[in-house]
Amino acid sequence: MTVMRAGFDPQFGEAWSAAQLSGTLGMAGSFARQALAADDAACGFTLCRSAGPEVELLLIAVTPAARGRGLGLLLLEAACKDALQRGASDLFLEVRENNLGARALYRKAGFRDVGRRADYYAGSSGRRFAAITMRRHLGDLL
Ligand SMILES: CC(C)(COP(=O)(O)OP(=O)(O)OC[C@H]1O[C@@H](n2cnc3c(N)ncnc32)[C@H](O)[C@@H]1OP(=O)(O)O)[C@@H](O)C(=O)NCCC(=O)NCCS
Repeated sequence: MTVMRAGFDPQFGEAWSAAQLSGTLGMAGSFARQALAADDAACGFTLCRSAGPEVELLLIAVTPAARGRGLGLLLLEAACKDALQRGASDLFLEVRENNLGARALYRKAGFRDVGRRADYYAGSSGRRFAAITMRRHLGDLL
């Protein structure tokens, strides 16, 4: 939750509450990874959920101080490998259309745009934002 609070811009309302996070972590098929700094403080995480042959990346965040050093990419690649080990063929995610940093990260990790959902996210000011659905085939990791 420390990374959650520091990692997401409040204007987009994307950070989950502790109750949402613990509820999802308690569900069958959920899995997560945490990145720790040298002093053991959490500085990044991913949260995923399996659904049949597909896995969805629900959240990824890196604290602002730890960004730009490859940690997001490392966490994403670990999530892809975890999904493959669980038998998934594809990893899906949804990303806010104007979250250009995250979209660049996902493209670098081999994800491609496969759809667009208008007005999917509700920002704190009442403004709505489209989501881009992205997919990565995991077969190339074999
Ligand atoms: C998106 C996020 C996880 C990236 O973490 P990071 O550790 O900074 O990412 P990396 O250093 O591994 O970046 C890897 C590549 O992604 C791309 N990238 C990452 N952040 C970028 C940015 N702000 N602008 C443009 N490209 C970016 C670049 O191609 C980068 O490679 P390069 O450094 O060689 O150019 C981080 O910015 C974050 O936590 N954002 C807030 C939470 C969020 O929006 N999560 C996604 C929706 S759940």
